[in-house]
Amino acid sequence: MERIKELIQINRSYRRFDNSKKLDMGFLEDLIYSARMAQSAANLQPLRYITVTDEQKAEQVFSTLGWAGYLKDWDGPEPDEQPVSYIVVLTTKDSSYAQVDAGLAMQNICLTAIAAGVGSCILGNIKKERLAQILELEEDLSILYVVALGYPVENVRVISIREAPDHKYFRDEKGNHYVPKRCIDDLLIKEL
Ligand SMILES: Cc1cc2nc3c(=O)[nH]c(=O)nc-3n(C[C@H](O)[C@H](O)[C@H](O)COP(=O)(O)O)c2cc1C
Repeated sequence: MERIKELIQINRSYRRFDNSKKLDMGFLEDLIYSARMAQSAANLQPLRYITVTDEQKAEQVFSTLGWAGYLKDWDGPEPDEQPVSYIVVLTTKDSSYAQVDAGLAMQNICLTAIAAGVGSCILGNIKKERLAQILELEEDLSILYVVALGYPVENVRVISIREAPDHKYFRDEKGNHYVPKRCIDDLLIKEL
């Protein structure tokens, strides 16, 4: 119980990584195994995945992604801090259940990664047409999300939303990243 809570605590969105520490295909296959184990509405399993470890391909994928919309003076990670690998989450059918399935699968991916010290960031801000070209995607598949991966080189801390102006994440002058989370009292509206 304590271990899973600890993993959930450190399973933050990381956006700066050590680009010199690569991940191998076997590791990404392990992450896909965890995605495979996720619950799926009606067990339809509409999701498909593309893993990217090739350096040049990874640079191309990076060019399609939008980072940290709330950090207006930050354009995303510099080359030496860019993710080393990606998992592109695709669906065979565009249904709302595919979105739920994707959330569950990505959580399994991210938790499995952080258990090995590998950080991740789920990205929905994607130039999808461009990424589809880069991946030479077949017509029957559509892109839902990209999970960026690598060894983190930033501190990401959860704080109470009561200590922050609002829900927007922010950084201090040292580059520490703070994520305001709503308090239990605000979330749990009734205990019957
Ligand atoms: C569905 C989804 C889409 C997201 N898309 C982006 C994105 O495009 N770019 C980005 O930098 N972060 C993205 N994030 C990360 C969120 O900004 C992050 O989860 C939120 O700020 C809370 O931080 P935490 O993950 O550390 O708790 C996304 C997260 C989710 C769940």
